[in-house]
Amino acid sequence: QVSVLHKFKGILFSTMSSEELLHALDSFDVREDDVFLVSYPKSGTHWIAEVIESIPNARISLTSPIELGDVSKLEELKTYSERRVIPTHLSYDLLPVNIKQKQCKIIYIIRNPKDTAVSLFHYYRENPNLPYIETWAAFFELFLQGEGEYSDGLVLKFLKLFFFFFFLLFAQDFSKSLKKITTFLGINVNDSEVNKIAQKTSFSEMKNNSIKENYDLSHTICALTSDRNLVFRKGVVGDWINYFTSKQKSVFDELFTRK
Ligand code: A3P
Repeated sequence: QVSVLHKFKGILFSTMSSEELLHALDSFDVREDDVFLVSYPKSGTHWIAEVIESIPNARISLTSPIELGDVSKLEELKTYSERRVIPTHLSYDLLPVNIKQKQCKIIYIIRNPKDTAVSLFHYYRENPNLPYIETWAAFFELFLQGEGEYSDGLVLKFLKLFFFFFFLLFAQDFSKSLKKITTFLGINVNDSEVNKIAQKTSFSEMKNNSIKENYDLSHTICALTSDRNLVFRKGVVGDWINYFTSKQKSVFDELFTRK
């Protein structure tokens, strides 16, 4: 099998992120009004990106992930004139230093790690940019070791720092969560706009649209694929229960508590 991953500073990346680009990230020209959409893969990145893009009069442009592509990415990002919303799966330590210096807004997406694991397992099986994994049991071990694409510890570094987008809370009370985001970004929305956004960004609507959409690289949000058909699998809270054995659950919970 052709290697689809490479290591940079001890972290596994898809070969779609060039080493040269990863090296150059610290020279990225950060703007003070940039918003970074940071997440561990499969936490709901496409969902919140669609939510933000659907806010009327937000005057923002969603870019592709900062770590996706080759070093020309940094030039490409300069061409945006509107406020940029930049998705990334980079760990805290690898984020361009200027983001922290300029105190840019960061939205960090959090999902139950058990659901994230199940979602990522399917992604490993279906995404040609990731190694193929035979069984859930094998993937579970990989995930626990933090040896898969992107290491763990990502969440811990971000804690206390930024605005958090909780997959669960969005699933439970969309309007309330949306209003928190728009307040954070300094944008006004009224109730009828909230309802429209809720409709447009529902799982079924987004899944249907992804089937209709043609391959459009400018719409890439995940550094691991530009194929949106791979993204909308089930879109529920708690699917982990269908995969974790009770032994796996206790091993996982023990590790989670320890970390
Ligand atoms: P599942 O594999 O559990 O279905 P990311 O965008 O970070 O790659 O995350 C993908 C996960 O978010 C997938 O989880 C996907 O189905 C879910 N998702 C995407 N859009 C969603 C939406 N509008 N509502 C609920 N879940 C959504």
